[in-house]
Amino acid sequence: MKVTVVGAGAVGATVADNIARKELCEDLVLLDIKEGLAEGKAQDMMQTCALLGFDTTIIGSTNDYGKTAGSQVVVITSGIPRKPGMTREDLIGTNAGIVKTVCENILKHSPDAIIIVISNPMDTMTHLALQATGLPKHRIIGMGGTLDSSRFKYQLSQHLQCSAADLNALVIGGHGDTTMIPLIRFATWNSIPVTDLLSGEQQKQIVADTMIGGATLTKLIGTSAWYAPGAAGAALVEAIVRDEKKLFTCCVNLDGEYGQKDICLGVPVVIGKNGWGKIIDFPLNEEEQAAFNKSAEAVRSMNDVLKTL
Ligand code: LAC
Repeated sequence: MKVTVVGAGAVGATVADNIARKELCEDLVLLDIKEGLAEGKAQDMMQTCALLGFDTTIIGSTNDYGKTAGSQVVVITSGIPRKPGMTREDLIGTNAGIVKTVCENILKHSPDAIIIVISNPMDTMTHLALQATGLPKHRIIGMGGTLDSSRFKYQLSQHLQCSAADLNALVIGGHGDTTMIPLIRFATWNSIPVTDLLSGEQQKQIVADTMIGGATLTKLIGTSAWYAPGAAGAALVEAIVRDEKKLFTCCVNLDGEYGQKDICLGVPVVIGKNGWGKIIDFPLNEEEQAAFNKSAEAVRSMNDVLKTL
C-alpha cells in the first residue's frame, strides 16, 4: 500500500504525520516543489518512528513524481494558504494552475489513484480535478465537509460540555465561510437531538462559530490552520485504505442529488476502497434546501472563474 501527499506545507505534513502514526500504508511519499522541504520534513517525521512506534516509511521528494508511482491514494494540499482577511476564494487564480499540474503529474505515475483534494477553494479545486483528469467521479473526493463537521462537533461539545466523540453532526454545502451549512436540526448527542438541549441562542452561536471556524484560526495564527485539516485528510485516507465504508461529508460530483447537477459540493457519502460510493440523499427542509441552493450558486460562479483563467 502506497499513499502520496502532495504539498509539504503545514497541512500536507500534518496529513502525512497522521497517516504514519496510524500506519495506514507501508510507503508514504511526501512531495513538494520547494527544494529540500519534503525531504526535510519526511526525515524529521521518520526520526519520530522509534518514539511513536510506527513502521511506515516516509519518503520525501522535491517534485520527483517518479517516486509517487503506484500510489493507491493521493492527497493534494498544494497551493498557497489564506492569510488573515483572505477568503478561500481569493486563492483561485494561483491554486488552479498548481492543482491541475499536480493532477496531471500524479496520473502519469499512478493511473488508478483515488484523489483527495484539500487545496482551496476546495469545492472549485475538486471540480477542477475532476474536469482536468476525466477520472470516474467516485475517485475524486474533496475533504472540506469532513473538517467542517469535526469543527461543528467541537463547537457543540463546548456548549454541551460533552465528549465530541459522542456527537453526530454534519456540515453540508460548500467549504466557504458563507457557503457551509451546519445541519443542527440533525445533530445528536448519543441519539438525543441537540436542539432539545441547547437554547435557540446557543444553536445560532454554534452554527456561526462553525462557519467561521477556519477564518477565526487564520486570524489568530496568521495563516490557514493545519491540525484539523490534516486529521480530516488522514481520516479519509484511513476510510479508503481500510475500506471502512464510513459516512463522511465530502465534496463530490452531484448528478441530481439534493437537486443539483454538474457541481461538486459537500454531501454525506460512504467512503471505502473505491473512493466515494453512495450519496445519502435525505430530505432537507425548505430553509436548508434554500441554503444548499444558494451555496451551489456561489460555488458555481467560482467554478465559472476557472473558464477565465
Ligand atoms: C480551513 C482550510 C484548510 O478551513 O480550508 O482551515
